Amino acid sequence: MTKTGAGILDRYCFLGTNREVSIPKGQFADVILLEYTGNHEKMSPRLKVLNVVGARPNLPKIAPLMREMQRHEAIEPILVHTGQHYDENLSDVFFRQMGIPSPHVNLEVGSGSHAFQTAEILKRVEPVLLEHKPDLVLVVGDVNSTIAVSLAAAKLGIGVAHVEAGLRSYDRSMPEEINRVLTDALADYLFVTEEEAIQNLLREGRPRGSIFMVGNVMIDSLRHFLSLAQQSVIGDELGLKNSASWRRFGVLTLHRPSNVDGVQKLGELLGAIDTIASELPIIFPVHPRTQQRLMQSGIHHHPQLRLISSVGYLDFLCLLSKATLVLTDSGGIQEETTALGVPCLTLRENTERPVTISEGTNLLVGTDPSKIVGAAKDILCGRAKVGKIPPLWDGRAATRIVEILLQVVPRASINY
Ligand code: UD1
Repeated sequence: MTKTGAGILDRYCFLGTNREVSIPKGQFADVILLEYTGNHEKMSPRLKVLNVVGARPNLPKIAPLMREMQRHEAIEPILVHTGQHYDENLSDVFFRQMGIPSPHVNLEVGSGSHAFQTAEILKRVEPVLLEHKPDLVLVVGDVNSTIAVSLAAAKLGIGVAHVEAGLRSYDRSMPEEINRVLTDALADYLFVTEEEAIQNLLREGRPRGSIFMVGNVMIDSLRHFLSLAQQSVIGDELGLKNSASWRRFGVLTLHRPSNVDGVQKLGELLGAIDTIASELPIIFPVHPRTQQRLMQSGIHHHPQLRLISSVGYLDFLCLLSKATLVLTDSGGIQEETTALGVPCLTLRENTERPVTISEGTNLLVGTDPSKIVGAAKDILCGRAKVGKIPPLWDGRAATRIVEILLQVVPRASINY
């Protein structure tokens, strides 16, 4: 780790938060793809779907679903925000940039331990479910809000749909893995993004008829917003552009507790990144969890490792799409880089998204500094992995999900 003497967050807060941009059918033997009949538009009453968001990664997943539901007369969508994430840069900016309607209800649970957060959401969402009486609760991803609302709904006998079901790292030390397993055990409708997820769910005894291969709603958002994102001026602000052309640069994200909560591990990882940063600038939007750990640790960094505050969706997508390489411990970024064809090094020992490795641009390099540096050098020498886009990651996942919901979910059948 280079000892520059510069403060960790010396260039940290210069980005203002107020700038705004500122299968073919039949390919899968196990897949259920229903024919769209159109009859549901005449059915009554409307299908009341209570959609849930809590943390940042939920937002690009719920945006295309809300947009699609609002197009259908036959659906009444309701949006509940648990308030798990509440900062402007982790929540509000996503609502504005992606046109997500304001939540009908915000449970304002805030931060806390896993048990606290989960328990508070359970307590606070139950009266909301009783008041709105939805036909279905739709949850996305694997955060604490996902499992908490699923559990509250299941106990009331309300159907649950889980979007991004079946992903498994088989690493129970990840809180998200526990959330995924439990949510899938409760959910009645399981929408999956990749083939392996179907096998995982079948192995856990989930009925074949409840599993639907639909593609990836986060990639719906990526495709919908990519051209707008590329109009962002973030490249000019960070000095990454030479008139119209982009210089070579990398993007880093780190927020997994296993990587950032221990000073030694965080120092080793940033030491490896320092070596890479001696070859090209690395832009590092720092998550609040990581920011807290960095401030406590006193770790210094190479001047070309550029720490900035968390950025909004459009700026981040712009950076991802123009990067020479991406280093991350996030789940979703492994998928976004695969969809963009940008080389990605995942700084974890496992992934719940194996299709990004078998078909995409992702390499699982782990957390050994020499392996990280070696893999980055390969990319910089022109030996980047070439990938292809996984099946059904075509921007139409939300359309498929909504069509299926309209056909399979019974309405107004709950006696509360
Ligand atoms: C959560 C999710 C994780 C997801 C990540 C994306 C769980 C178990 N974890 O992890 O799956 O990848 O979000 O960001 O659900 N904080 C703020 N502002 C906020 C929210 C949090 O400053 O708006 C700070 C708080 O001090 C908090 C810390 O960040 O203690 C961590 O937040 P938390 O929601 O507990 O977990 P994440 O690490 O964000």
